[in-house]
Formats: sequence, C-alpha cells, structure tokens
Amino acid sequence: MKKLENKVVFITGGASGLGRAAALAAAEEGAKVVIADLSNSDHQAALAEVGAVGGESLFVPLDVTNSANVQEAIAATVQKFGRLDVALNNAGIGEGFASFLETSEESFQRIIGVNLTGVFTCMKYELAQFVQQGGGVIVNMSSLAGVRGAAGLSAYVASKHGVLGLTKTAALEFARRNVRVNAICPYYIDTPLIKDAHPDQRQQMIAASPMKRLGRAEEVAKAFIYLASDDSSYTNGTQLVIDSGVIS
Ligand SMILES: NC(=O)c1ccc[n+]([C@@H]2O[C@H](COP(=O)([O-])OP(=O)(O)OC[C@H]3O[C@@H](n4cnc5c(N)ncnc54)[C@H](O)[C@@H]3O)[C@@H](O)[C@H]2O)c1
Repeated sequence: MKKLENKVVFITGGASGLGRAAALAAAEEGAKVVIADLSNSDHQAALAEVGAVGGESLFVPLDVTNSANVQEAIAATVQKFGRLDVALNNAGIGEGFASFLETSEESFQRIIGVNLTGVFTCMKYELAQFVQQGGGVIVNMSSLAGVRGAAGLSAYVASKHGVLGLTKTAALEFARRNVRVNAICPYYIDTPLIKDAHPDQRQQMIAASPMKRLGRAEEVAKAFIYLASDDSSYTNGTQLVIDSGVIS
C-alpha cells in the first residue's frame, strides 16, 4: 500500500527545488499532486516528472503574497480533485547576506511577506478547508534558520522562526479536529535557491556540515512523506531538523 494513495497534495513553490522533489515523491506514493507556484515559474518539468510516474497533477498559478490568489488556488484544487488532504507550504525566497544595519526595511518586509505572511495566508485557507471536510495535514517548510540565528540573515531567520510559531499554534488549535501541523527544518540543500551563493560561501556551507556535503532535495522529500502520511499519526506541532548533525 502506498503511503499517500489517492490523497490530494497541494505544494506551494512546487515547480522547483524542494517543492518539486516533494511533488515527485508524493506522486510516487500514489498522490494527486497540485503544483502551486508563480505563473512564470518553470512548472512544466515538475508536471512532466509527476506524469512520468503515473501521477495525476494540476498546476495552479499562485503568488502566496496575494490572498485572493491563495483562495483561488485552493478552490481550484478542491474543484478538480474534490478535497485537499495535505498541504506543503514551501514557497520561499532567500536573501543575500547583509548585516542588520545594512538590511533595508523594504527587503525585510519582502522576505517576511513571502516566507511568513505567505505561509499564514495559505494555512488560514487550508485549515478552513480541512475543518469543512473533517481533517487534513499541513507541513510547513521552515529551515535550520528557524531554530537558530544566522549572522547576516536577519529577515530570513525571523521569517523561519515565525513559521515554527505558526506551526505550533495551529497544531494546538486544530489537534481535536483531525488536523496535524508539523514543520521541516533543513540545513543547506542543493537547490536553485543557493545556486547564486559565492563559491567561498558554498565551501563554508559544506565545511560546517558534519557529513561534509550539502543535503539533497530527495532527502527532504522523504521527511515530507513521513510527516504527510499516517506514519506520523501521533506527531503534531513538531519540527524535523534535517542537517547532517550541524546543531548536535
Ligand atoms: N535550499 C535550501 O538550502 C533550503 C534550506 C532550508 C529551507 N529552505 C526553504 O525551502 C523552501 C524551498 O526552497 P528551495 O531551496 O526549493 O528554493 P527554490 O528557489 O528552488 O524554489 C522555491 C520556489 O518557490 C516559488 N516561489 C517564490 N516566491 C513565491 C511566491 N511569492 N508565491 C509562490 N511561489 C513562490 C519559486 O517560484 C520556486 O519555484 C523555501 O521556503 C526555503 O526557504 C531551503
């Protein structure tokens, strides 16, 4: 029996990196997959991957900073597949390293807008759908930057700590409604998000990893499948750190 047989899985930022790997892993586990991403995202490749393993899929254009867009994307999911079982709130953006004093207020608001307010907005309408249909599962993509500071990344760190706050709060509020809410906290994973990192920074990322390598998107996707499926049926409000042992 596949772990997500016939489940409807909605993935924000599903066209690239961690979201794309999660979409493929979910399809391999029997899910119907909705890839929700910016309209100009490279979603065709992600849809083709899902199709290649026989999965049903749908692309919905979504900007998580636009509430009407979020509501439309969830409505389109329910219209196509009848319900929403699992949501992976994964869409996010990084920021270049800048000291606290160099970080502009505009840059701070932009990161918070996508990485934190975007997650709140998606959760709000996903949870409303879950209540209406009698349950569901949320997995939020936080970061190792959600559990510790990182000099030069004030907005990103604040946004990812905030995602854990939303995760824990919703887990408590909805625990008696057949809803579970958990988060994943990866260290640096080799995706397009970090492709522009200076080679020296990349070497530092690798050097700080006890395994002396970056993570792979497929390794995070496996954690997503665990948290999305009944394998984690008593796991709620937690954060799964995937970091090769960095914070040990
Ligand atoms: N790669 C890493 O090292 C790493 C580590 C920890 C956490 N994360 C988190 O994982 C998530 C995915 O990152 P990734 O590495 O796959 O990056 P990525 O750049 O490969 O993918 C991010 C996706 O999000 C989409 N996106 C961006 N802004 C959006 C918006 N406003 N609305 C809808 N979609 C939007 C992009 O189009 C893209 O498809 C992010 O939240 C990131 O913060 C990444």
